[in-house]
Amino acid sequence: MTDLRARSIEIILTAQAPSGAYPACLEFPTYRYSWFRDGSFIAYAMDLVGEHDSARQFHQWAAAAIIRRADLVERAVGKARAGRPLELRDVLHTRYGLEGEPVEDGDWPNFQLDGFGTWLWALGDHHRRNGTEVKGPLRAAADLTALYLAALWRLPCYDCWEEFPDRVHPHTLAAIAAGMRAHQEMASIEHTHELEGIARCLYEDALVDGAFIKSLGTRDVDASLVGLTTPYDAIDALDPRMEATIDLIERKLMNGGGVRRYSTDTYYGGGEWVLLTAWLAWHHRRQGNDTRAEQLLHWVEEQADDEYRLPEQVPSSLNDPAYYQVWVERWGEIARPLLWSHAMYLIAGESPFL
Ligand code: BGC
Repeated sequence: MTDLRARSIEIILTAQAPSGAYPACLEFPTYRYSWFRDGSFIAYAMDLVGEHDSARQFHQWAAAAIIRRADLVERAVGKARAGRPLELRDVLHTRYGLEGEPVEDGDWPNFQLDGFGTWLWALGDHHRRNGTEVKGPLRAAADLTALYLAALWRLPCYDCWEEFPDRVHPHTLAAIAAGMRAHQEMASIEHTHELEGIARCLYEDALVDGAFIKSLGTRDVDASLVGLTTPYDAIDALDPRMEATIDLIERKLMNGGGVRRYSTDTYYGGGEWVLLTAWLAWHHRRQGNDTRAEQLLHWVEEQADDEYRLPEQVPSSLNDPAYYQVWVERWGEIARPLLWSHAMYLIAGESPFL
């Protein structure tokens, strides 16, 4: 649907702040901030569709947000290396105000590492694609981020859904590995020790019955595991354990045409996520399964409203319908338009071979 493609670009560019930040969703009060995770995928999508200035402005915003916290990064690294416990005031937060300022939200689940790995990955792609070198403040911020991830990667943290802080999550590890590999390339620095450690952790601790699991110590599947291979390339797509994981996602997390996060998700009842369905389509396109990718993208297109705006999730095939209203009363109707949903739709449509 070319209209949805054009509209997705327009929605993202219109919402992007003059500072370069991408808000997750301006219409949804809790999401009027910029997340490293969402923003990095959005920047990647903008590069794919040729909107390189938009991506560059996001990366500059992200770099500035990190540089202004250089002291914190060094404190976190020092404490982590000494084996001392980290407090919330010692770690990089996951979401920021549109000027990069801190958000006063004492109890937000702020300790999440995946977004910083994803940022390095997207930054590396941006520069490779544009044939430019990562230098100046971007390079300084990339170095700080890699230092931070190298010191903290083993620690339990909130997952990419901002939950389960006491566990280590394979998706997060894969995002960190992709970021470290990107940093190796841009800075000519070896991260072999960390990359081998992450690979060992994935192959030795993150498999149950021949498939990857949501978090170490659990047995569940989670749709974000698609990230292990697409795009983070921590696991080969043709590894039978990765194929088994994709198969489980398709069998256990899809009742209708869309993909749920995990089988006990209760956020807005635990419906079908647009960005995850597009993510799975992206994976299938990379494998050359165009027919399957198109089926999934067709479902995504059907979720757009009359103004071609995509939501975060769709309240059908709910895991736990009782929770739907609980969340509507707490935070309002499901976020729409969610910029990350639009970004994943663009990525899945643009990048069959990446
Ligand atoms: C999701 C996160 C996302 C955030 C902003 C949360 O509900 O779980 O993955 O980064 O919304 O879109």
